[in-house]
Amino acid sequence: MTAVDARPETTTELRFPAGFRWGTATAAYQIEGAATEDGRTPSIWDTFCRTPGKVRNGDSGDIAADHYHRMREDVALMKQLGVTDYRFSVAWPRVQPTGRGPAVQKGLDFYRRLTDELLGAGIRPVATLYHWDLPQELEDAGGWPQRETADRFGDYARIMADALGDRVATWTTLNEPWCAAFLGYGSGVHAPGRTSASASLRAAHHFNLAHGLAAQVLHGALPSTSEISLTLNLHAVRPLTGSEADVDAARRIDAVGNRIFLDPVFHGRIPQDLVRDTAAVTDWAFVQDGDLEVVSTPIDSLGINYYSPTVVGAGSSTSPSPWAGAEEHVRFLPAPGPRTAMDWPVDADGLYELLTRLRDDLPGVPLVITENGAAYDDYADPSGEVHDPERVEYLRAHLSAVHRAIGAGADVRGYFLWSLLDNFEWAYGYSKRFGVVHVDFATQRRTFKDSARWYGDVIARGGLTG
Ligand code: FCB
Repeated sequence: MTAVDARPETTTELRFPAGFRWGTATAAYQIEGAATEDGRTPSIWDTFCRTPGKVRNGDSGDIAADHYHRMREDVALMKQLGVTDYRFSVAWPRVQPTGRGPAVQKGLDFYRRLTDELLGAGIRPVATLYHWDLPQELEDAGGWPQRETADRFGDYARIMADALGDRVATWTTLNEPWCAAFLGYGSGVHAPGRTSASASLRAAHHFNLAHGLAAQVLHGALPSTSEISLTLNLHAVRPLTGSEADVDAARRIDAVGNRIFLDPVFHGRIPQDLVRDTAAVTDWAFVQDGDLEVVSTPIDSLGINYYSPTVVGAGSSTSPSPWAGAEEHVRFLPAPGPRTAMDWPVDADGLYELLTRLRDDLPGVPLVITENGAAYDDYADPSGEVHDPERVEYLRAHLSAVHRAIGAGADVRGYFLWSLLDNFEWAYGYSKRFGVVHVDFATQRRTFKDSARWYGDVIARGGLTG
């Protein structure tokens, strides 16, 4: 070999800080199955799936990835990957079937077993209390537009703190309340499928209140070393041009997409421009004295789910829209560039923009990427391998953006890849595969995709290699 051919040892070019948390994420309804076992009752998603035309192919989470029965195997997969953390959600209707009253021990036992298994594998459990599966009985009583639902959520948080507080140190109250409020009650493409702008705004406030009530309960019940968080799908909003009208369209989406949660939770206030923008929809009388103090109960970190940016200009959108008060002023434009199987643009700069914005807007608040990943049309080839080079590229680009943001001063503590397993992708059913582990839903066979091996390597090295 000549000197010219000699290559230097591969060096880690983008090393993440020591102690950086490397995880994967899932959600109960998307993977557990066992929909009627051990006392579980229907959630709004079980009902929605049974409503003709709502979920592609009539799919449901009845069986999903059968994780309820394959939990040990799935934890073993994570151990093989080398993750330090695992973010899962608790199915409220599994542990408190009617959303009221005493807990069901069998349901709690599943999460006790799961967390024991994780701890035994050296993986930190990160529990999300609400990833969209409201007990149907609470929806029948009015759902999230109804204030009482927030109180019930506080009770449920107490049940979970008592059951898992000795073994779970990191807690997330809600996952993506924007989607739950605005897709669930505004555009109706998610459960429970209602289409009322005013109901969606009421729901958003009650989600904030529920978060604050749960944060108070958790702070009171858990050791002071516990970490309490909230996960938002913040929108990386970009105006199409620098024109005043386009910039104002972006402001509107930032208000009803981002600041509707950020301002109450971190600053104890409702954005006044949002109140003005939505004046024709609601007078906000559902915000009662004292609510904002509860909502702004201090928390320890902010979780961010990011997939792609949002480009807007002046115009109008189709109805029913999830953008209460903004639909007649804003149109949504496709961002350029390659797209995933969801038709979502691949644009890692949006993640960098979000993280540096939060560095500036929320100084002192640690940030965690609680979801990031991509769907592609993966399949096992005849030799049983699943090659997913686009997913590897997506992950590489987004992890590089996280690294760049850390270099620019964003306090990012961890990254959770969505998702561990192919799963039930809400209104898309099983047609979209986000996992780094392929699931053959006919046999429930799990196979590492190339991206899983790649991610395992990143974790082992503590960063990306050149
Ligand atoms: C997020 C959800 C998650 C998953 C990804 C693709 O909005 O939190 O459950 O469906 O999108």
